[in-house]
Amino acid sequence: MSPASTENSVFLRSLLREPVPYTPVWLMRQAGRYLPEYNATRARAGSFLGLAKNPDYACEVTLQPLDRFALDAAILFSDILTVPDAMGLGLSFEQGEGPRFAHPIRTEQDVARLAVPDMESLRYVFDAVSLIRRQLAGRVPLIGFAGSPFTVSCYMVEGKGSDDYRLIKTMMYSRPDLLHRILDVTAQTTAAYLNAQIDAGAQAVMIFDSWGGVLADGLFQEFSLTYTQRVISALQREREGQRIPVIAFTKGGGQWLESIADAGCDAVGVDWTVNLAAARRRVQDRVAFQGNMDPMALFGGEDAIRAEARRVLDAFGPVGKGGHVFNLGHGISQFSPPDAVAVLVDEVHRYSRQFHV
Ligand code: CP3
Repeated sequence: MSPASTENSVFLRSLLREPVPYTPVWLMRQAGRYLPEYNATRARAGSFLGLAKNPDYACEVTLQPLDRFALDAAILFSDILTVPDAMGLGLSFEQGEGPRFAHPIRTEQDVARLAVPDMESLRYVFDAVSLIRRQLAGRVPLIGFAGSPFTVSCYMVEGKGSDDYRLIKTMMYSRPDLLHRILDVTAQTTAAYLNAQIDAGAQAVMIFDSWGGVLADGLFQEFSLTYTQRVISALQREREGQRIPVIAFTKGGGQWLESIADAGCDAVGVDWTVNLAAARRRVQDRVAFQGNMDPMALFGGEDAIRAEARRVLDAFGPVGKGGHVFNLGHGISQFSPPDAVAVLVDEVHRYSRQFHV
């Protein structure tokens, strides 16, 4: 494994609010269906899970966006739902339909049977991490990730994606003890899972709380943030003498930035509804920020993409003692033109230099 000092560490240094020459950029879902080469590899693998469960394929697609664009970080190609799959829920993806679980967790008996799985059942993920890290050979750092316990539990209870979260919210309001137990087992599993990714070579980790924003104030703290915090506090934060930064991202979490910043993370991910200048003031640069361009801005054409990138960078302003990692406010759409990403990366790298002195 090459030492971090020989690689482009602008991303890791920004997360730790250390001085860098420009604002680093990577994109959530940067390896995905908007890239024809991803679709070609997925066709060879037969399915999304065929890709994700094979370390050679997972490595290949992780590196694809880096071969095209001057991105400052790689993110492990996998999914947040590998965790409940390992817990025995039976994950499948129907073409064009999204994830489905054969055995969702709905009853007291289902909940009683839940247990932290043997991490050996996720060996394919850790093997992918080691392989990607070797293949990267120090080009850019590698990000590991997991879903937040609440977001993962949404899928475990609903059995698939949901528009209204009716089943998990029914459980939350009628049998909060059951949901707390699901969250507790999932948090323990997630901590072990992320620590094993770090052991395998992940240099930063991100926790995706994609659905925490659907909760009422008060319940977000009780059912989502508490468990994200538990995961963070169980993580190893140093490996081979390098700090392992943690990014906590809650989509729709703008009103809770202070409490997310105090959950023990190094950086807070924000969606596009947040103003970065106001966000910095609210947390007084205690943490770095990651985000926050609207993914749909990539459909606006070159001038609009450049203008939106500048708008985000201007809002953050002179970086000073803060830290900014440029990203989208959520995953890149599968319909995005790949050239839009090249334009975005160019503008972020070029325009941000004035803010780093
Ligand atoms: O960012 C990356 O490039 C790394 C890979 C990554 C994937 N999923 C690959 C993927 C990451 C970080 C995720 C996280 C993930 N997965 C989240 C949290 C982030 C978010 O988007 O809010 C969630 C909620 C999931 C669950 C999930 N996986 C859903 C709902 C779907 C189907 C919807 C969709 O976008 O197709 C997936 C499938 C999935 N995961 C795809 C990819 C590239 C598309 C599958 C395909 O190739 O058909």
